[in-house]
Parts: sequence; C-alpha cells; structure tokens
Amino acid sequence: MDDLIYLDNGATSFPKPDEVYEMMDSFHRSNGVSPGRSGCDLSIETGNVIEQTRATMTELFNGDDPNRLIFSLNSTEALNIAINGLLTAGDHVISTNVEHNAVLRPLHHHEKYNGVEVDYVPFDDNGFINPEDFIPLFKPTTRLVIVNHASNVIGTVQPIAEIGKLCQERGVIFLVDASQTAGKIPVDIKEQYIDIVAFTGHKSLLGPTGIGGLYVREGVDIRHTRAGGTGVKSAQLHHLEEYPYRLEYGTPNLVGIVGLLAGVRWLKCQGMETIHHREMELTQRFVNGVRNNKNIVLYCQDNPTDHIGVVSFNVKGFEATNVGTILDGDYNIACRTGLQCAPFVHQQLGTDKIHGTARLGIGPFNTEAHIDAAIIAVNEIAETYGVGVS
Ligand SMILES: Cc1ncc(COP(=O)(O)O)c(C=O)c1O
Repeated sequence: MDDLIYLDNGATSFPKPDEVYEMMDSFHRSNGVSPGRSGCDLSIETGNVIEQTRATMTELFNGDDPNRLIFSLNSTEALNIAINGLLTAGDHVISTNVEHNAVLRPLHHHEKYNGVEVDYVPFDDNGFINPEDFIPLFKPTTRLVIVNHASNVIGTVQPIAEIGKLCQERGVIFLVDASQTAGKIPVDIKEQYIDIVAFTGHKSLLGPTGIGGLYVREGVDIRHTRAGGTGVKSAQLHHLEEYPYRLEYGTPNLVGIVGLLAGVRWLKCQGMETIHHREMELTQRFVNGVRNNKNIVLYCQDNPTDHIGVVSFNVKGFEATNVGTILDGDYNIACRTGLQCAPFVHQQLGTDKIHGTARLGIGPFNTEAHIDAAIIAVNEIAETYGVGVS
C-alpha cells in the first residue's frame, strides 16, 4: 500500500491532508451530536461549525449569503436537487457533450417522462465548448443552461463566464457543475455570471466522501422536491421555504462537513493557485513523456492552457481496461479506465467504440517520481501491446 502510486484523483482525491483526518476524528469525538439552535451548548457549538463551513464555502464561490449554501451528499445529489427543483413540463434546457451522468441522467429522465426538451452543444477538436454555439439554441422556453466547468475525461476547462453572460442577458438560469474545479481553479458566481454552483467535497476540495452541495444565488429559487425535519419551526407542516432549510432535509453529514472545512482550510493555507500550477506541471511532464510514442493516443492534450490535471489516453489496439489492469497489477499505479460516467464525451471522441480511455488524475500529493514511474509504465505497455509492435 505504501508504494501505491495513486493517479485517480479525478475520481476522488487520495490521500487527504492529515488535518482532514485529524479534524474529523477529533470533532466526532468531542462534538458528534445533532446540531441545533435550541439544544445544549454542545449542539449549539456543532451548529456553529456547520455555519462556519457554509460561510467558508460561500466565500470560496464569492457568494454573499451563507444561507444560500446548502449541503448534500455529493454533487450528483446537489445537481438532482437543482434540476428537479427547477424544471417543469414544456421547459427547454441547453447542456453540453462534456457533461457527466450526474447531469445527463436527470436530464434524460425529464426528457423521457416530464416533457422537457434538451439540446446538447458539442465540443471542438481540442475539447472546448464554443459559447457562440449556444446562441441559436436559446428559445423562449429555455429555462436552464447546465455546463460542466472542467471535463473529468479530457480535463478541458470551459469558458463559463462567456456562457454565463449569454444566459444572464436572456434571463436563463445558469447552473455550473464544478465537481472537478471547486478547490482547483476559481469558481466565482459574480465574475462568471453563475446562478447555481454544484460541488462535491471529496475531489479537489480534499474533504471526505458523502458531502457536497449547491450555492444558489439570491433571486433564483429552486423548489423543494423533498421534505422533512429541519430542527426549526417544527409545528409547521409545510417544508420551510427559507434557505438553507428549503433544500436541506434531516440530520446533516456533520463529520463530512468538518472534513470539508479542514480540506478547504488546508487548500487556502497552501494556496489553490500554487497547487494547481504544480499539478499542471506534473500533467505536462506526463504528456511530454508519452506524447512521442507512436502506439499511444492522447485526447485533447495539444495545448495545456485551460486544462486541469486530468489526462485520457489509449494504447493503440489494446483495451483501456487492460492498460488499467496492468498499471495496477504490474506497476502498482491506480488510474481509471472506461467511460468515466461521461458517455457523450466518448461518443464524440469515438472512444465509445473501444470502451473508453485510461485516465490519470493528478492530485496535490503526487510527485515527479510518481509521474516518471507512470511514464515508464505506460510506454512499456505501449511497446509490448500496442499495434505497430512487430
Ligand atoms: C464533472 C463531474 N460531475 C459530477 C460528478 C459526480 O460527483 P459525485 O460522485 O461526487 O456526485 C463527477 C465525479 O466524477 C464529475 O467528475
């Protein structure tokens, strides 16, 4: 386990900073009670830490009102809360081919069962969405635009500010899936004209699994599609309309919330930009180390500008799953293979027909030595199994 080279940070970051483990453990031991305004001191203190985390996350997205930061299980749940609470029959949605199934499947459900119409914007040969492609798609019924900030397959960062501006000019709600970017690069609801951000805690925010959420800008309202206890106004049977209660139900994931807080504090301490810069240097080191191998195909990696540290590749004529199995079994390198829950990306790349790609996700605890080992391993696999090998 000690010599495992973990390059699957696009799926979940691992390991976490020590501070995250320590805070989760110590907080659970000292304050692991239900939060509540009217409870004992301990539960009031617990509630305060949740509010502190709301405030920290609100600041991260440059929001104004921490009550509009709501917690969920992960970004899949957060996206479902937003999509299901916004759409009704007759609505039109514009989304993109870079989306994850966390968006594609809820949209498919609304298309199939609820009379919602969806258009998808393709990406260009370098993996970028062109904001201009949205313009002819807007209709009077367009209610929502959803864009994945950075692809979890090819790592391209989309021009969300330009797309957000188009939405704002037309009064259309702009929802950004920041699962891959929150904690890595700026997600700023004001500068990027974002109405709703969905985030997940366990990737670049360096928190544990089981925590995520939404920031919902003032003036945008999501219907509650669930109802339950909120700890306040208990005599009222109708689920509360005010945020954050409107979109939160039941006892929160307290340990996840404090882990998230510790993760974000660590990121701020190290400097998000510094970490991202380093991850991109490592990413380029890998790309340069395999780029000239004629048996290796890299996807959308011609120019590192506007990328995160996520790289997809294939060994020509050899299944990506086999590459992953050999990397794991023979080299102790963990990566992800297959369609990475983003079927439209693969359809557009044509890699759906060959069962996807192998994907590396570079994280803050990766080193040059990890990358050099991956370069050697991938080149050796390509020499041994790639087509063109005599
Ligand atoms: C772009 C994107 N959106 C959504 C998700 C879903 O994240 P979670 O599984 O934490 O809900 C992922 C995870 O891989 C992702 O990469």
